Amino acid sequence: MPHPKTAEDMIKCAGSLESELLPRLLHVTEAAAIAASYQIGRGDKNYADQVSVEAMRRMLNCLDMKGIIKIGEGERDEAPMLYIGEKVGTWEKGVEVDIAVDPLEGTNLAAEGLPGSIAVMAMAERGGLFHGPDIYMDKIVVGPEVVKYEREHPDEKIDLDAPVRDNLEIVAKALNRSIDELVVVILERDRHEQKIKEIREAGARVNLVTDGDLMPGVSTAIRGSGVHMVLGAGGSGEAVLTAAAIKCLGGKILARLVLPTVANGKSAEKIAEEKAEKMERLESMGITEDNINDVLDTNRLVPGEDVIFSATGVTPGPILRGVSLFGEGDARVHSINIGISGVVKFTDTIYIHDKERNPLRF
Ligand code: FBP
Repeated sequence: MPHPKTAEDMIKCAGSLESELLPRLLHVTEAAAIAASYQIGRGDKNYADQVSVEAMRRMLNCLDMKGIIKIGEGERDEAPMLYIGEKVGTWEKGVEVDIAVDPLEGTNLAAEGLPGSIAVMAMAERGGLFHGPDIYMDKIVVGPEVVKYEREHPDEKIDLDAPVRDNLEIVAKALNRSIDELVVVILERDRHEQKIKEIREAGARVNLVTDGDLMPGVSTAIRGSGVHMVLGAGGSGEAVLTAAAIKCLGGKILARLVLPTVANGKSAEKIAEEKAEKMERLESMGITEDNINDVLDTNRLVPGEDVIFSATGVTPGPILRGVSLFGEGDARVHSINIGISGVVKFTDTIYIHDKERNPLRF
């Protein structure tokens, strides 16, 4: 099918999730972000997470859809709400959807009042999101220019196992710049010491983040964000959510599941303990010792065709502003909404309860 040429065509081409649910998804992440914002800087990350989970769940349950949480707050026994497998929505009518949520991505950041925390979620048709455990994924994320470069140069492909320099060379060529003009975001963790060294030795610049590697991943597909690649092991849920946005924006992610004890270089005893604790559950999801090391590409992580993504800033970040509170529950929030048709909305929403006390302001 030829690519639609007009905005009208794009809107008409949008699937049912994008046309019916994407506008409502915005309300869900906005509600979670506003709930979290009252806890910014209070030092209690668990409570900040809890209130955003509760708000997100309340909003999800208002939506006419048959939703199942595929990426959530953990298993039913460890998470009281938005656990993997939980049904959300009215289940009376509406489409069947799989859902990935992170009601507060960057819990430490919010609790400490630091930049970069968001409320985020994605949806796809049933079967459209990777069904996997809540461990880590090692990953590499790049923007759409790299996808185009790979198509035009089939022998040069981003590879999770290649030396960092080789991948940087491909990104540099794709972006028509030199390696020393590239910025790579990576979580500041001991496990990334070697990768950070390799990035610097190759000549690129490193942007270390203490937490929150999801939005930087999305930023690789946003020209002008100043992020050209994201590397390193982080939460597997964050990787799937990144993949949802990246698929909609035409970028690329490669990822591989890894147990936290393995990624963090723990002792053989600790690794064995984690395997004993988690392998049975992993196997019930089809992940075995034989295939755990498989590389999962964007379409394995998000096989769906009707994919939607929404994120709202909690504390300010490079892409999204944080929540502003005006008293009496009034708030201003900044979000990004992405549909697979290619329609991206940045929204600046103001909630005013008391119009006399807080008139609309610029
Ligand atoms: P939370 O919001 O769940 O605290 O996750 C924050 C985060 O920094 C993610 O962005 C990242 O993928 C993951 O934690 C890294 O995990 P770890 O802190 O164990 O290295």
